Amino acid sequence: MMVTLKKAIHLIRQGEVVAFPTETVYGLGADAQNIRAIKKTFRLKGRPLDNPLIVHVSSMQQAEELTADRPEDFYKLAAAFWPGPLTLVTNKNERVPDLVTGGLQTVALRMPDHPLALQLIQRTGPLTAPSANKSGKPSPTRIEHLIQDYGDNLFMMDGGATDIGLESTVLDLTSPVPTILRPGAITAEQISVVIRKPVRDYKETHRDNSSPAKSPGIKYTHYKPDAVVEWMDRRPSHFSKNVFYIVHSTQDWPESEHIASYNRDFRQLARELYDLFRTADHLQYQKILIEKLPSEDLNPFISPLLNRISKAAGR
Ligand code: TXA
Ligand code: MG
Repeated sequence: MMVTLKKAIHLIRQGEVVAFPTETVYGLGADAQNIRAIKKTFRLKGRPLDNPLIVHVSSMQQAEELTADRPEDFYKLAAAFWPGPLTLVTNKNERVPDLVTGGLQTVALRMPDHPLALQLIQRTGPLTAPSANKSGKPSPTRIEHLIQDYGDNLFMMDGGATDIGLESTVLDLTSPVPTILRPGAITAEQISVVIRKPVRDYKETHRDNSSPAKSPGIKYTHYKPDAVVEWMDRRPSHFSKNVFYIVHSTQDWPESEHIASYNRDFRQLARELYDLFRTADHLQYQKILIEKLPSEDLNPFISPLLNRISKAAGR
């Protein structure tokens, strides 16, 4: 059910769950102090209770009120990237219910860069918000995706298509070397420049099998369309009608309804990736073939795209 900002504020205060737009993907918002509302979020989404939620704030004061301590890097990064697609993990205090963090002593905080989200949070206080998809589905980047997942069984605010299209970068500030737990539009490189020290990038963490994954969400399947997703090493000799192709190199690709071509615009590909997944499923394609990404390329969207597509391809 579509609701206005005013109605959304009222509903959140009543302990309801309301989907709202951010600059990354739509989130499933609930009052971060209301246990029943948070429980409802997990239930609605079909999410395991040990996968913690990001708390969304609209001011530094709200962030300070929920945390036990904040390293200097926290302030530097918030000054550089908030509001924006960077989630910072730091030590929580007793105001954050254990239900939010899956029992962890840390909390993930983010200030979203979207006027509707900020106005909402200013009026309701901090909101927990996982990506608003049903567990296992690609994150919603348009209101239509929410309707696909929930029909009429969800309050939602329409903010149009989201700008970034992939979930925020999650950065752990509690480890000795700041560590990227989930790649997003803000890269290790950009973070490193701001805090003037090395940052452990996502890939490196995962080569180190000796330590357990620190972001509990990592172990669950994510971002999977129903169609089989595979990487495409080179241009096929012919294009099958049963396959949906996603390509980004500047080659001359045939004009076709089953070829989505991006001409090296990785930002646009990131913005549309989840919509392409959902559209391919809707049109009942059995397979989605995606041209291999140039992993050495420094474009900031390559790393999060590689991450999400690899997960969708299930390897
Ligand atoms: O862009 C985004 O971050 C979106 C929008 C709605 O803000 N939200 C989002 O939330 O992607 P979700 O719940 O789908 O993903 C949150 C990720 C999960 O991988 C979770 O494990 C991790 O953040 N996370 C949350 N709290 C954490 C903590 N205390 N320590 C480590 N990882 C944490
Ligand atoms: Mg998610």
